Amino acid sequence: MVKFRASERMVDMLSEEMLTSYRAWLQYEPIEDQSYASNVSAYLKNVAVNLDCDEIIDNALIEWQTALGSMLQMNSAVDVGSELDQGLILKLDASYQEDTYTIDSSENLLTLTGGSSRAILYGIFHVLRLIQQRKSLDNLSIKETPKNKIRMINHWDDMDGSVERGYAGESFFFKDYKFIKDRQRIHDYARLLSSVGINALTINNVNVHKIETELVTDTYLADVKLTSDIFNQYGITMYLSINYAAPIELGVLDTADPLDENVIAFWEKTAKRVYEVVPNLGGFLVKADSENRPGPFTYNRDHAEGANMLGKALEPYGGIVIWRCFVYNNKQDWRDRKTDRARAAYDHFKPLDGKFNDNVVLQIKNGPMDFQVREPVSPLIGELKDTNQFLEFQIAQEYLGQQRHLVYLIPQWKEVLEFDTYAKGKGTKVKDIVSGEVFDNKIAGIVAVSNVGIDYNWTGHTMAQLNLYGYGRLIWNPDLTAEEIAMEWIKQTFGHDPQLIETIMKMVMPSWEAYENYTSPLGIGWMVNVSHHYGPNIDGYEYDMWGTYHYADRNGIGVDRTIATGTGYTGQYYKENQELYESIETCPDELLLFFHHVPYTHVLQSGKTVIQHIYDTHFKGVEQVEEMIEHWTSLEDKIDQRRYQDVKERLEHQLWSAKEWRDTINTYFYRKSGIADEHNRKIY
Ligand code: GCU
Repeated sequence: MVKFRASERMVDMLSEEMLTSYRAWLQYEPIEDQSYASNVSAYLKNVAVNLDCDEIIDNALIEWQTALGSMLQMNSAVDVGSELDQGLILKLDASYQEDTYTIDSSENLLTLTGGSSRAILYGIFHVLRLIQQRKSLDNLSIKETPKNKIRMINHWDDMDGSVERGYAGESFFFKDYKFIKDRQRIHDYARLLSSVGINALTINNVNVHKIETELVTDTYLADVKLTSDIFNQYGITMYLSINYAAPIELGVLDTADPLDENVIAFWEKTAKRVYEVVPNLGGFLVKADSENRPGPFTYNRDHAEGANMLGKALEPYGGIVIWRCFVYNNKQDWRDRKTDRARAAYDHFKPLDGKFNDNVVLQIKNGPMDFQVREPVSPLIGELKDTNQFLEFQIAQEYLGQQRHLVYLIPQWKEVLEFDTYAKGKGTKVKDIVSGEVFDNKIAGIVAVSNVGIDYNWTGHTMAQLNLYGYGRLIWNPDLTAEEIAMEWIKQTFGHDPQLIETIMKMVMPSWEAYENYTSPLGIGWMVNVSHHYGPNIDGYEYDMWGTYHYADRNGIGVDRTIATGTGYTGQYYKENQELYESIETCPDELLLFFHHVPYTHVLQSGKTVIQHIYDTHFKGVEQVEEMIEHWTSLEDKIDQRRYQDVKERLEHQLWSAKEWRDTINTYFYRKSGIADEHNRKIY
């Protein structure tokens, strides 16, 4: 039954020390604590499989044997259909939900019961996670059901091999307009994803160029199928990003009008062929009428008409259409200060609520802008009462240091998930809306833009592995704390030394705050270079040619988004949040400049003036990075050299970059406002 030890095939390509990075959190380090080893061993000696084996179960058993071989040097014997006195029993229970599993233990007998093969795989990873953390297997009574039914990753990989906003090397799906033939990487990636409960992904960029348009044609469908099969073996459903103008791009028609009967026929035929070759495909992801992507607006059709046409084409095969709400083609004009990019998703999609087919789902970015270090929650979440929806995060740190900076993202995402929208009165949290519970949606879940590439450690920055791990764990169970998730990851990735755990916790936990401190302040966002989005460029983003995204002048800074005098954006929230943000007195400090234009001398709730806050936080942010470096260097003897040096180099770069941010921001605002630092510290 054992085919190969998954990641070991990479041995040909990677040195042993690189393999350590490559294994990420599935290290399965040998257990040195003998008393722990003997306590758990009895539970692990044998496996009785009381269910029909399929490829997912095979992979679960391979994982089990690989892990136990490595951690305990034991060979856990697998028997089909037998009962056991000691060991692990696997069985299915048809009354469980598809991804639900239970783990019970007593007297050296573990019973893992799942609602499906995939649930069994998740349960196996759960037990291995417990062992990797040296947790007891005695008296377990665990029941796990994921909060979100669909738990997805979006790749922004292009077929030339590049990755849009990719910070960990090139794509491991594509190179030179072809699929990469050696699919070992994909196999190992599927393992990593399923170990944290991911069950869906797209492999190609939402910006679909001419070549990727052909992914739905016979040119590539055989390769699509091979790739999809690998993911399926780990319980992951694959989807494709498609080009809305495919009928034109492929030279078949001269229109992509969703109401044109030839266009309808084109998509019906395309769907039929796609599903003949790839019957398990999940469906299509579409970015339309956004950032120069084609869409129904060209034909004066709305997005419901556009999406439903595709929905109907996929319906016979059980496929779904994921339609992104990242649409902001409203003209910005600084002179009237009324047009507002933040309004766009709501303005476009709220009027269409209830008009989408059952197999269409809208994908909404967590904030109204674009994955900034600090944004309010998108007001569209909670306003769509009769439409399936996904929440979209970004694991790739496009605006958060591009995986050269250590930024732990879970604390940010938790704030989003815990946000009270008041959609159905107090306590209507984002996490309960996007899970589908509040509005009883048929399709629901969370999506995130991937942060992996062909780098031997997957994520460029070793510490960015934590964001991938944490994403999976958080969307499975949003009630896990950021601390719990980080602890789990550290133990599995780096080991059990208490000083090591404590030190890495001290690095990761304040890292989002540190990044916010030395970059753009008080919710204003942006201030980066417009093309690559890295490093400070305060006036980098402009509204047309007339002004900047921050409206800083000698008198003040910030965007007035109030109903009373501004863009009216606050009016998109339910009353309680509307009032909170509308009033300068109650608006939380960290979002003040997102919602209000204020003088530099405005006193924040913290008691500081805006300008003093800017100076102080920028000095503090740099100090926080200096502390991170001190912490990390104290661990030199406790971590293998490769990972130690990798992280150290990135931290040193982060410090350089943080200083650049500090000096650029503080100088700019000193010059703009003419107000010096009250501590007489040097303003560069
Ligand atoms: C950001 C990003 C783009 C991406 C877009 C999207 O604007 O910079 O590269 O295409 O988001 O989400 O579609």
